[in-house]
Amino acid sequence: MKVVKVGLLGLGTVGGGTVNVLKRNSIEISRRSGCEVVVTKACARNITRERICDTDGIQLTTNPNDVINDPDIQIVLELMGGDEPAKSLILSALSQGKHVVTANKALIASHGNELFAAAADNNVTLAYEAAIAGGIPIVKAMREGLSANKIEWLAGIINGTGNFILTEMRDKGSAFADVLKEAQELGYAEADPEYDVEGIDAAHKLCILASLAFGMPLNFEKVYTEGISTITPLDVTYAEELGYRIKHLGVARKSDAGVEMRVHPTLIPEKRLIANVDGVMNAVVVKGDAVGSTLYYGPGAGAEATASSVIADIVDICRQLDVPSDKTVPSLGFISDQLQEIALLPIEDVTTAFYLRLSVEDKPGVMAGITTILAENGISIEAMLQKEPKHGTTAQVILLTNSVVEKGLIAALKGIESLDSIKEPAIRIRVESLQ
Ligand code: HSE
Repeated sequence: MKVVKVGLLGLGTVGGGTVNVLKRNSIEISRRSGCEVVVTKACARNITRERICDTDGIQLTTNPNDVINDPDIQIVLELMGGDEPAKSLILSALSQGKHVVTANKALIASHGNELFAAAADNNVTLAYEAAIAGGIPIVKAMREGLSANKIEWLAGIINGTGNFILTEMRDKGSAFADVLKEAQELGYAEADPEYDVEGIDAAHKLCILASLAFGMPLNFEKVYTEGISTITPLDVTYAEELGYRIKHLGVARKSDAGVEMRVHPTLIPEKRLIANVDGVMNAVVVKGDAVGSTLYYGPGAGAEATASSVIADIVDICRQLDVPSDKTVPSLGFISDQLQEIALLPIEDVTTAFYLRLSVEDKPGVMAGITTILAENGISIEAMLQKEPKHGTTAQVILLTNSVVEKGLIAALKGIESLDSIKEPAIRIRVESLQ
């Protein structure tokens, strides 16, 4: 059987998991790929550190060039993360005719257009299944399984840390900051937890999913991003009373007006399957015109779950080592010269329903003032809760609106917040029916 030598850049959690799974499942992987896949070299910052994998037979180095300049290595795994030196190392490996597999979502989202072009120029593959939703084969599903469809929209829980935090807030009534600390102690959060809780990590993944869905170049800067740090246990509880769960969703939708790409906390009806995806698990719903709604669920992180995706990419490459790259599955699922720039909608032009929570003075006529302004702006109320003050005189009014263009809602809220009876800025969270 043909031997394919693999070099690793990064021997941390995902690198270690990849070495372990390649070793443990070597027979199945050979039977599927037609090759014996052997890791021969690995670059790590500290080569004496204790590892989760056995490194027998792997030459360790602290110099990444030892890996990418090795003429015997055909596939380089970039599992170090970050922007540089990862980007330069990938470009160098591609220019030497090596295939590259990466789990680096930030790099693909921000520089994927350039990196995919470099791969094509060098007749090799840059594969990235592990960059989105860990072990879920969502890239495979979108590029191949759904290729008959016009994708209408997709919505995903694509950051496990954020989902863990919201789940704990709901189950235990804990405050955001306390659960974030717990998530960090459990090792879920990114090195900079802002990436998880402010939605940047999810925005990286959403940007890639949107390009896969609609056949457009990557455009990370245009993803509207809002985090979960402002969500309170009170809103989680009131959402439940209304029959909803709050999830941190990435949503991409295409309409005649253009494409929306947005990451924000979202109320979802509790009966939707995705509303019941809890803890660190990820899930993506993709709606195609032919197939309807499809749901992909699984672990979004973890050593062997992510290794599962890395190795699936290795197997694909092994099967096509002698195939010209323009005859393999295109990087974003559409032939590269068929990618189209599509108008991207600013968030002000996006239409969604809203959950509003208003802190109001508990006196006659307050509701009339609020509903009049909503009506004047063409916004109707779908559901309402009113909570009497526990202490003092401030009551909570919770409203669910119909679907409204965001700038219309902002105009209405400006009027509502200027009423004497309104005590604090309104809390507003978007609502998606996901149907
Ligand atoms: N920090 C990420 C998450 C890891 O929580 O989902 C996987 O990208």
